Amino acid sequence: MAKQKLINTSQELSNFPNHVALVMDGNGRWAKARGLPRVQGHHRGAERLRDIVKSCPELGIRYLTVFAFSTENWKRGQDEVSGLTNLFRQYMGSESRELIEKGVKINFIGNREAFDRSLVEQMNQLESATKSNEVLELTVAINYGGKSEIVDMVRKITRKAVEGKLNPDQLDEVLVDKFLSTSNLPDPDLIIRTSGETRLSNFFLWQAAYSELAFDQTLWPDFTVEHFKSHLIQYGIKERRFGSIT
Ligand code: IPE
Ligand code: IPE
Ligand code: MG
Repeated sequence: MAKQKLINTSQELSNFPNHVALVMDGNGRWAKARGLPRVQGHHRGAERLRDIVKSCPELGIRYLTVFAFSTENWKRGQDEVSGLTNLFRQYMGSESRELIEKGVKINFIGNREAFDRSLVEQMNQLESATKSNEVLELTVAINYGGKSEIVDMVRKITRKAVEGKLNPDQLDEVLVDKFLSTSNLPDPDLIIRTSGETRLSNFFLWQAAYSELAFDQTLWPDFTVEHFKSHLIQYGIKERRFGSIT
Protein backbone atom coordinates (compact mmCIF):
# COMPACT_ATOMS: atom_id res chain seq x y z
CA MET A 1 0.00 0.00 0.00
CA ALA A 2 2.67 2.47 1.04
CA LYS A 3 4.98 1.53 -1.80
CA GLN A 4 2.12 1.60 -4.29
CA LYS A 5 1.34 5.19 -3.38
CA LEU A 6 4.90 6.34 -3.91
CA ILE A 7 5.38 4.31 -7.08
CA ASN A 8 2.35 6.04 -8.55
CA THR A 9 4.19 9.31 -8.24
CA SER A 10 7.61 8.14 -9.38
CA GLN A 11 9.90 5.33 -10.37
CA GLU A 12 10.13 1.85 -8.80
CA LEU A 13 11.50 2.10 -5.31
CA SER A 14 13.12 -0.75 -3.52
CA ASN A 15 14.58 1.29 -0.75
CA PHE A 16 12.51 2.90 1.97
CA PRO A 17 13.84 4.77 4.98
CA ASN A 18 12.96 3.06 8.22
CA HIS A 19 13.96 6.00 10.42
CA VAL A 20 13.53 9.59 9.24
CA ALA A 21 14.63 12.58 11.32
CA LEU A 22 13.44 16.14 10.74
CA VAL A 23 15.12 19.39 11.69
CA MET A 24 12.01 21.55 11.56
CA ASP A 25 13.50 24.96 10.81
CA GLY A 26 12.18 28.24 9.46
CA ASN A 27 9.18 28.98 11.70
CA GLY A 28 10.49 32.41 12.68
CA ARG A 29 11.18 33.49 9.09
CA TRP A 30 7.76 32.24 8.02
CA ALA A 31 6.11 34.42 10.66
CA LYS A 32 8.33 37.43 9.98
CA ALA A 33 7.48 37.35 6.28
CA ARG A 34 3.83 37.74 7.26
CA GLY A 35 4.35 40.36 9.94
CA LEU A 36 3.31 37.87 12.62
CA PRO A 37 4.94 37.12 15.98
CA ARG A 38 7.45 34.24 15.80
CA VAL A 39 5.30 32.08 18.01
CA GLN A 40 2.64 32.02 15.26
CA GLY A 41 5.22 30.36 13.04
CA HIS A 42 5.75 27.70 15.69
CA HIS A 43 1.99 27.10 15.90
CA ARG A 44 1.74 26.69 12.15
CA GLY A 45 4.77 24.41 12.28
CA ALA A 46 3.04 22.17 14.84
CA GLU A 47 0.17 21.71 12.36
CA ARG A 48 2.62 20.55 9.68
CA LEU A 49 4.12 18.09 12.14
CA ARG A 50 0.66 16.64 12.75
CA ASP A 51 0.24 16.01 8.98
CA ILE A 52 3.66 14.40 8.64
CA VAL A 53 3.12 12.12 11.65
CA LYS A 54 -0.21 10.96 10.19
CA SER A 55 1.41 10.16 6.85
CA CYS A 56 4.21 7.97 8.23
CA PRO A 57 2.43 4.62 8.65
CA GLU A 58 1.27 4.49 5.04
CA LEU A 59 4.70 5.56 3.84
CA GLY A 60 6.28 2.61 5.62
CA ILE A 61 8.18 4.74 8.13
CA ARG A 62 8.61 3.00 11.46
CA TYR A 63 10.61 5.68 13.30
CA LEU A 64 10.23 9.45 13.06
CA THR A 65 12.40 11.79 15.11
CA VAL A 66 11.83 15.53 15.23
CA PHE A 67 14.15 18.22 16.56
CA ALA A 68 11.83 20.54 18.45
CA PHE A 69 14.12 22.51 20.78
CA SER A 70 17.91 22.55 21.02
CA THR A 71 20.12 23.10 24.06
CA GLU A 72 21.08 26.38 22.37
CA ASN A 73 17.50 27.58 21.86
CA TRP A 74 17.42 28.89 25.45
CA LYS A 75 19.39 31.84 24.06
CA ARG A 76 16.16 33.12 22.53
CA GLY A 77 14.09 35.64 24.43
CA GLN A 78 11.96 34.57 27.38
CA ASP A 79 8.82 35.30 25.33
CA GLU A 80 9.75 32.84 22.63
CA VAL A 81 10.88 30.14 25.07
CA SER A 82 7.65 30.37 27.05
CA GLY A 83 5.64 30.50 23.81
CA LEU A 84 7.33 27.28 22.75
CA THR A 85 6.82 25.51 26.09
CA ASN A 86 3.14 26.52 26.04
CA LEU A 87 2.89 25.10 22.53
CA PHE A 88 4.44 21.77 23.64
CA ARG A 89 1.93 21.62 26.48
CA GLN A 90 -0.98 22.44 24.18
CA TYR A 91 0.16 20.05 21.45
CA MET A 92 0.59 17.14 23.85
CA GLY A 93 -2.86 17.84 25.30
CA SER A 94 -4.67 18.13 21.98
CA GLU A 95 -2.89 15.29 20.18
CA SER A 96 -2.49 12.68 22.88
CA ARG A 97 -5.80 10.88 22.27
CA GLU A 98 -5.25 10.54 18.57
CA LEU A 99 -1.63 9.48 19.00
CA ILE A 100 -2.68 6.78 21.46
CA GLU A 101 -5.51 5.57 19.19
CA LYS A 102 -3.31 5.54 16.07
CA GLY A 103 -0.72 3.32 17.76
CA VAL A 104 2.04 5.95 18.00
CA LYS A 105 4.67 5.43 20.66
CA ILE A 106 6.14 8.70 21.94
CA ASN A 107 9.63 9.16 23.38
CA PHE A 108 11.28 12.37 24.46
CA ILE A 109 15.03 12.77 24.31
CA GLY A 110 17.05 15.64 25.74
CA ASN A 111 17.25 17.01 29.24
CA ARG A 112 13.64 17.41 30.35
CA GLU A 113 14.56 18.38 33.91
CA ALA A 114 15.04 21.96 32.70
CA PHE A 115 11.27 22.31 32.19
CA ASP A 116 8.43 22.91 34.65
CA ARG A 117 7.38 19.93 36.72
CA SER A 118 3.91 19.92 35.18
CA LEU A 119 5.35 19.75 31.66
CA VAL A 120 7.73 16.96 32.67
CA GLU A 121 4.79 15.05 34.15
CA GLN A 122 2.85 15.48 30.92
CA MET A 123 5.81 14.12 28.97
CA ASN A 124 6.25 11.15 31.32
CA GLN A 125 2.53 10.36 31.14
CA LEU A 126 2.46 10.47 27.36
CA GLU A 127 5.45 8.14 27.21
CA SER A 128 3.91 5.67 29.59
CA ALA A 129 0.43 5.82 27.95
CA THR A 130 1.95 4.98 24.55
CA LYS A 131 4.78 2.65 25.51
CA SER A 132 3.17 -0.49 24.05
CA ASN A 133 2.24 1.14 20.73
CA GLU A 134 3.97 -0.23 17.67
CA VAL A 135 2.71 1.49 14.51
CA LEU A 136 5.15 4.41 14.63
CA GLU A 137 7.76 5.48 17.12
CA LEU A 138 7.82 9.27 17.36
CA THR A 139 10.84 10.67 19.17
CA VAL A 140 10.74 14.33 20.10
CA ALA A 141 14.13 15.92 20.76
CA ILE A 142 13.47 18.69 23.24
CA ASN A 143 16.26 20.50 25.05
CA TYR A 144 18.44 18.10 23.07
CA GLY A 145 22.01 18.69 21.95
CA GLY A 146 24.34 16.15 20.38
CA LYS A 147 27.38 17.43 22.30
CA SER A 148 25.57 17.38 25.62
CA GLU A 149 24.40 13.82 24.90
CA ILE A 150 28.00 12.76 24.21
CA VAL A 151 29.18 14.40 27.45
CA ASP A 152 26.46 12.49 29.36
CA MET A 153 27.53 9.25 27.72
CA VAL A 154 31.19 9.83 28.64
CA ARG A 155 30.19 10.66 32.21
CA LYS A 156 28.14 7.47 32.59
CA ILE A 157 30.84 5.28 31.09
CA THR A 158 33.56 6.89 33.20
CA ARG A 159 31.51 6.38 36.32
CA LYS A 160 31.06 2.69 35.54
CA ALA A 161 34.76 2.32 34.85
CA VAL A 162 35.69 4.03 38.13
CA GLU A 163 33.27 1.74 39.99
CA GLY A 164 34.99 -1.23 38.36
CA LYS A 165 31.81 -2.25 36.49
CA LEU A 166 33.18 -1.64 33.01
CA ASN A 167 36.53 -2.51 31.55
CA PRO A 168 37.69 0.27 29.16
CA ASP A 169 39.18 -2.39 26.88
CA GLN A 170 35.66 -3.70 26.25
CA LEU A 171 34.38 -0.36 25.02
CA ASP A 172 33.22 -0.40 21.42
CA GLU A 173 30.65 1.39 19.23
CA VAL A 174 27.83 -0.94 20.23
CA LEU A 175 28.45 -0.23 23.91
CA VAL A 176 28.65 3.54 23.34
CA ASP A 177 25.25 3.34 21.59
CA LYS A 178 23.78 1.85 24.75
CA PHE A 179 24.72 4.94 26.74
CA LEU A 180 23.05 7.42 24.38
CA SER A 181 19.48 8.67 24.62
CA THR A 182 18.78 6.86 21.34
CA SER A 183 19.86 3.44 22.65
CA ASN A 184 16.53 1.92 21.58
CA LEU A 185 16.48 3.51 18.12
CA PRO A 186 18.22 2.58 14.90
CA ASP A 187 20.37 5.37 13.44
CA PRO A 188 18.39 7.65 11.12
CA ASP A 189 18.50 6.64 7.46
CA LEU A 190 17.50 10.10 6.32
CA ILE A 191 17.73 13.52 7.98
CA ILE A 192 15.74 16.32 6.36
CA ARG A 193 16.34 19.95 7.31
CA THR A 194 13.99 22.63 6.07
CA SER A 195 14.49 26.38 5.53
CA GLY A 196 17.61 26.16 3.36
CA GLU A 197 20.13 25.90 6.22
CA THR A 198 22.77 23.29 5.53
CA ARG A 199 23.99 22.40 9.02
CA LEU A 200 23.14 19.96 11.79
CA SER A 201 23.05 22.60 14.56
CA ASN A 202 24.13 20.04 17.18
CA PHE A 203 21.58 17.41 16.18
CA PHE A 204 22.44 13.66 16.19
CA LEU A 205 26.22 14.13 15.98
CA TRP A 206 26.96 10.44 16.61
CA GLN A 207 23.84 8.96 15.03
CA ALA A 208 24.19 10.84 11.71
CA ALA A 209 27.44 9.03 10.79
CA TYR A 210 25.91 7.40 7.70
CA SER A 211 22.57 9.19 7.37
CA GLU A 212 21.55 10.65 4.03
CA LEU A 213 21.21 14.40 4.48
CA ALA A 214 18.53 16.31 2.62
CA PHE A 215 18.16 20.08 2.69
CA ASP A 216 14.93 21.68 1.60
CA GLN A 217 14.42 25.40 0.91
CA THR A 218 10.84 25.26 2.21
CA LEU A 219 10.21 26.92 5.56
CA TRP A 220 8.86 24.35 8.02
CA PRO A 221 5.31 25.84 8.27
CA ASP A 222 4.99 25.35 4.48
CA PHE A 223 6.40 21.80 4.45
CA THR A 224 3.69 19.43 3.25
CA VAL A 225 3.36 15.66 2.98
CA GLU A 226 4.09 16.09 -0.75
CA HIS A 227 7.47 17.69 0.05
CA PHE A 228 8.11 14.86 2.48
CA LYS A 229 7.29 12.22 -0.12
CA SER A 230 9.61 13.79 -2.65
CA HIS A 231 12.52 13.35 -0.19
CA LEU A 232 11.56 9.71 0.38
CA ILE A 233 11.65 9.19 -3.38
CA GLN A 234 15.08 10.85 -3.61
CA TYR A 235 16.29 8.65 -0.78
CA GLY A 236 14.94 5.59 -2.59
CA ILE A 237 17.18 6.11 -5.59
CA LYS A 238 20.38 6.69 -3.62
CA GLU A 239 22.96 4.02 -3.05
CA ARG A 240 24.30 3.90 0.49
CA ARG A 241 27.71 2.24 0.46
CA PHE A 242 28.76 2.50 4.12
CA GLY A 243 32.39 2.69 3.02
CA SER A 244 32.36 -0.34 0.76
CA ILE A 245 32.52 -0.36 -3.04
CA THR A 246 29.53 -2.54 -3.89
C1 IPE B 1 12.63 26.22 14.15
O1 IPE B 1 12.31 27.44 13.60
C2 IPE B 1 11.97 26.00 15.49
C3 IPE B 1 12.90 26.04 16.63
C4 IPE B 1 14.19 26.18 16.56
C5 IPE B 1 12.32 25.92 17.95
P1 IPE B 1 13.10 28.76 13.99
O2 IPE B 1 12.42 29.40 15.13
O3 IPE B 1 14.55 28.48 14.19
O4 IPE B 1 12.88 29.63 12.69
P2 IPE B 1 13.94 30.58 11.98
O5 IPE B 1 15.16 29.76 11.68
O6 IPE B 1 14.25 31.69 12.94
O7 IPE B 1 13.24 31.04 10.75
C1 IPE C 1 17.88 23.96 14.98
O1 IPE C 1 17.43 25.16 14.49
C2 IPE C 1 17.06 23.52 16.14
C3 IPE C 1 15.68 23.12 15.85
C4 IPE C 1 15.12 23.06 14.67
C5 IPE C 1 14.90 22.77 16.99
P1 IPE C 1 18.04 26.57 14.91
O2 IPE C 1 17.26 27.57 14.18
O3 IPE C 1 18.10 26.67 16.39
O4 IPE C 1 19.54 26.46 14.35
P2 IPE C 1 20.55 27.59 13.93
O5 IPE C 1 20.63 28.57 15.06
O6 IPE C 1 20.03 28.24 12.69
O7 IPE C 1 21.83 26.87 13.66
MG1 MG D 1 16.09 28.42 12.86
